[in-house]
Amino acid sequence: MTPRTSPAVGGMGHSVKRKEDPRFIRGQGTYVDDIELPGMLYLDIVRSPYAHATIKHIDTSKALAMPGVLDVITGATLAKYNLHWMPTLMSDMQMVLPVEKVMYQAQEVAAVLAMDRYTAADGVTAVEVAYEPLPVVVDPFKALEPGAPVLRTDKPGKTDNRIFHWEVGDKAATDRAFRDAEVTVQEDMYIPRIHVSSIETCGCVAQFDRVSGQLTIWMTTQAPHAIRTVFALVAGHVGLAEHKIRIISPDIGGGFGGKVPVYPGYVIAVAAAVLTGKPVKWIEDRMENLQADSFARDYHITAELAAQRDGTLTALRIKTLADHGYTDAAANPSKFPAGLFHICTGSYDFRAAHVEVDGVYTNKPPGGIAYRCSFRVTEAVHTIERMVDIMAHELQMDPAEFRKKNFIQPDRFPYTSALGWEYDSGNYGAALDLAMHKIGYAELRREQAEKRQRGEIMGIGISSFTEIVGAGPSKHFDILGIKMFDSCEIRIHPTGKVIARFGTKSQGQGHETTYAQILAEELGIPVADIQVEEGDTDTAPYGLGTYASRSTPTAGAAAAIASRKIRDKARKIAAHLLEASEEDLEWEPGKFFVKGSPERSKTIQEITFAAYTNYPQGMEAGMEAVSYYDPPNLTFPFGSYICVVDIDKGTGEVKIRRFVAVDDCGNIINPMIVEGQIHGGLTMGLAPALFEEISYDAQGNIQQGSFMDYLLPTAMETPNWETDKTCTPSPHHPLGAKGIGESATVGAPAAIVNAVVDALWHLGVRHIDIPITPQKVWQCLRARGVTD
Ligand code: CDP
Repeated sequence: MTPRTSPAVGGMGHSVKRKEDPRFIRGQGTYVDDIELPGMLYLDIVRSPYAHATIKHIDTSKALAMPGVLDVITGATLAKYNLHWMPTLMSDMQMVLPVEKVMYQAQEVAAVLAMDRYTAADGVTAVEVAYEPLPVVVDPFKALEPGAPVLRTDKPGKTDNRIFHWEVGDKAATDRAFRDAEVTVQEDMYIPRIHVSSIETCGCVAQFDRVSGQLTIWMTTQAPHAIRTVFALVAGHVGLAEHKIRIISPDIGGGFGGKVPVYPGYVIAVAAAVLTGKPVKWIEDRMENLQADSFARDYHITAELAAQRDGTLTALRIKTLADHGYTDAAANPSKFPAGLFHICTGSYDFRAAHVEVDGVYTNKPPGGIAYRCSFRVTEAVHTIERMVDIMAHELQMDPAEFRKKNFIQPDRFPYTSALGWEYDSGNYGAALDLAMHKIGYAELRREQAEKRQRGEIMGIGISSFTEIVGAGPSKHFDILGIKMFDSCEIRIHPTGKVIARFGTKSQGQGHETTYAQILAEELGIPVADIQVEEGDTDTAPYGLGTYASRSTPTAGAAAAIASRKIRDKARKIAAHLLEASEEDLEWEPGKFFVKGSPERSKTIQEITFAAYTNYPQGMEAGMEAVSYYDPPNLTFPFGSYICVVDIDKGTGEVKIRRFVAVDDCGNIINPMIVEGQIHGGLTMGLAPALFEEISYDAQGNIQQGSFMDYLLPTAMETPNWETDKTCTPSPHHPLGAKGIGESATVGAPAAIVNAVVDALWHLGVRHIDIPITPQKVWQCLRARGVTD
């Protein structure tokens, strides 16, 4: 094949953000893109128009001749330092810049370094790359067929495109249960690729001080400490030691899992800063973010349920093909290649279950990030909640009654599932009853029957999901070997003012508020006197960061434990000040007093002052404590959502008439923040159910490369969410709290799909893959002879 220069290089829609553009409004706070340093250079990236191609030649001469362009970094530049490949979080390898071939459309090919960002963008268009296209593998099923081109030719001895095969559960018992079953159902489902589309894209400013050897990186990351360690491990051989690396994650404009991985742009910017000794800024634009950063989902699932005719579920069997793109860059704990997908038995009491997942390489960008989801829980919940609905309909039972019959009952907790999880607590029936009462379920079913008589199409969908969050107990959870604990360090200054630092990193979840509340509650110090800080590795204690709704179960617990350590010391000092024995003291928020003599008391502020001025002999001065909290178990929040839809027979449009969400995250720290998490999460659940999908044509061209094609729901499409709660505390969390950040995103899609299929079941429709577009529904209706 003749090598050719692609006309599309550098023309992939670079819309440079202009700080002076009055249309560009920033929120309060400091974003990476706000950082301007003297002498700073700007980096922009040349991206591949091909999904699979050999790079024959890169001509940088025209770009280098442009005034203001300082350098063009290629794979060959990085290869000199062995930095052209980097490890992924799943210990696979990912290219920083290619030396031989590209593996997906929009992959980084070269980087232009210039005096300003406009020149850098112009320089990108001047770099000419000659490619020789290679056969493209887009379909993961075809990728596994014998004779399919082997994509990862960099891996010696690799003869196919399988990344892993993973199974869990008792296969023999499950197969037996299916053989003995009175009723079985099976369904194929596809949960498509989607993208987090956070408000701010990814980017960094890297600054290297050649004299001190100090590297400071302001970057959009959800896990600053882990990133610091990764940088030290990857670049240790070129002299970057971990104590000389400082990662600062300022306001990052949303993360949702998309800002956990290390993207090539970060590494190139760091390399450029080290090579030039100048600060370097890299900020991707919206289309680069959408086209090249890691994706979520992309699971092809075949699920089966077995049951008795009386409606008792007996077994679950699932086979899944997981499309990871060209490298396994999933942000999963190491031990779990398919994340926590094996929570897929959900809220139901199965005697037997077996799950198989095969990871597959294709010519797509890396996938597998935990998009507002605790590592594949959304996929698991979608599968089980769809299947339960299908079985209920098959048995002609009401889906709510069918669920209640099969729920794990409250007296069974702690409950060990057929796939090995120990659920901490739950009361699924209570949540479903409340949701049914709130929405008027019985009345809606009557209305549906009447409407059906009249030929109108209305559906009611339920999702009674169980989440699994708080990774995690270190015996099971690590990322690249680093155990998944989290931390809180409290320092109380002599005048009673507090600075508390955490290993997590808020991206808008309100940690500054809720962590301060925990400390205030535990120590009796006003929230106004408590400063919460996260995101700076030079000051915060080591932690694994914020994703997968883990902050409250881990760092929130650490806040309580560290506060209690402070209280233990405060008790000793109070006893000294009050000349009483420690056993004779009682605590009420804010002070210790002598039992029976409440007037003999010392406030926490008086005690803290004494910790620096008048502490007992033999005691160390100061009032500080730290907790690296390793949770004994995960937490298992849950909820029941009910969605009512009306379907327009003329257009196929699905209109959500009502949506009731009852959530249970145990004890709540801040009801308003939890409410906000649920509202946002529900809209992020609505998005893939009805709108969002990233797909590719046979040549690997992305079909939704901008927000013109990738549809995000706005306030116009978002229905009025009606929320409520039950409270089932976690028995092992020091505050009885469970995580909540993702429940709604995880639980909502199945409720919406179940409502649509419920509306169409009588016409013979058993399943529709998300996103349920008007076109899909319209075709379903027309295929069954339904017209307007
Ligand atoms: O890890 P991430 O912060 O995303 O998730 P989370 O731990 O579920 O917390 C999200 C927000 O809700 C935080 O501000 C929590 O402190 C708050 N929250 C709460 O107030 N009560 C709970 N039971 C759980 C979370």
